[in-house]
Amino acid sequence: PQRDHGRIRTALTPEAAAQLWTDGWCVLDGLLGRDWAMALRSEIASLAEGGLMREHRFQFAQAQFRKPHIYEVDMHDAALRARAPDFDALFRENPVAEVLNGHQPQLQLTPGCDASTLKLQYNAGGGGCFPCHYDNAGRPNQRQLTCLVYLNHEWQPGDGGELELLPFLQPTIRIPPKLDRAVLFLSDRVLHRVLPAAVPRYCFTLWIDGTAVNDDASVGLSAAQLALDDASVAALCGSARQRAVSRAVYAEEYEVSLRECMGDAQGAAEMVAAHLAHVAQQRAHPQLAPFVEGLRKRKPPPSSGRVYGESPAPEVGDPCQLGADKQPEENVARQCAACGAAVGGR
Ligand code: FE2
Repeated sequence: PQRDHGRIRTALTPEAAAQLWTDGWCVLDGLLGRDWAMALRSEIASLAEGGLMREHRFQFAQAQFRKPHIYEVDMHDAALRARAPDFDALFRENPVAEVLNGHQPQLQLTPGCDASTLKLQYNAGGGGCFPCHYDNAGRPNQRQLTCLVYLNHEWQPGDGGELELLPFLQPTIRIPPKLDRAVLFLSDRVLHRVLPAAVPRYCFTLWIDGTAVNDDASVGLSAAQLALDDASVAALCGSARQRAVSRAVYAEEYEVSLRECMGDAQGAAEMVAAHLAHVAQQRAHPQLAPFVEGLRKRKPPPSSGRVYGESPAPEVGDPCQLGADKQPEENVARQCAACGAAVGGR
């Protein structure tokens, strides 16, 4: 009885769809209501306890690696859906593509189960995280929209597992993974990472394919597009073409997040080496190098980043003092983003 797909329709407002298209992302609190969200959380917990969730695996070069602490299942598996009736209903009936297309036709989302993937995730804590990436890295991937829903009713600052969005050349946004909070973003143009989780974390992700994704205008950069005037840079920020240079523009963020997430796990050293080699190649390229350098100069300072739901940081004064006057409970960022020093910590 708590399943109410009408509630999802209402939550997906025209304003949210417009922000999704212009900024690349939006956050919706209260998408499902507490009871429905808690029921979905219980279904993930019961699948995890039953040993039915698999350790996350990923492909790198020719090999497959396991990601410790992170377990997931794909709801395309009918046998699993039979054990998770609330997710089964959501898989078959979710109105997200239809409603968003209605508000924002440019999204060109493909409706129907065949064009969607619903994955449940249980992060056991212990530092499980994901390095900087795009959900859609290029052809032949068809994902257009990522819709993450968090199911952590007891989440507190310090628990970790926040989603960090790094919209191209815009201030970063750190989003606490609180119960019934949905984060929607364009899979092909919002760089993001997941911070290490200190405690177990529950969420699910709905990916929806799009018909215009990875078209010729979204892939690669031609010599004529390596322009640094304001209009060209603004166009790049709103285009999936940014992926062609993201790794070099955000070289440090990729490397730090990669080291943080991989630790000394198998494949870690190879992945860092591959990242550094890619960056070095672009920064040695006669046409790309000055373009990348120009874009790097336009990156906002780390101190401009903010935590979603908190007021923006003041623009003047010593950035290391940010948050020093807050109560510890509110002080999510315990490190100064600018210098790494501890801030207002316990
Ligand atoms: Fe992702």
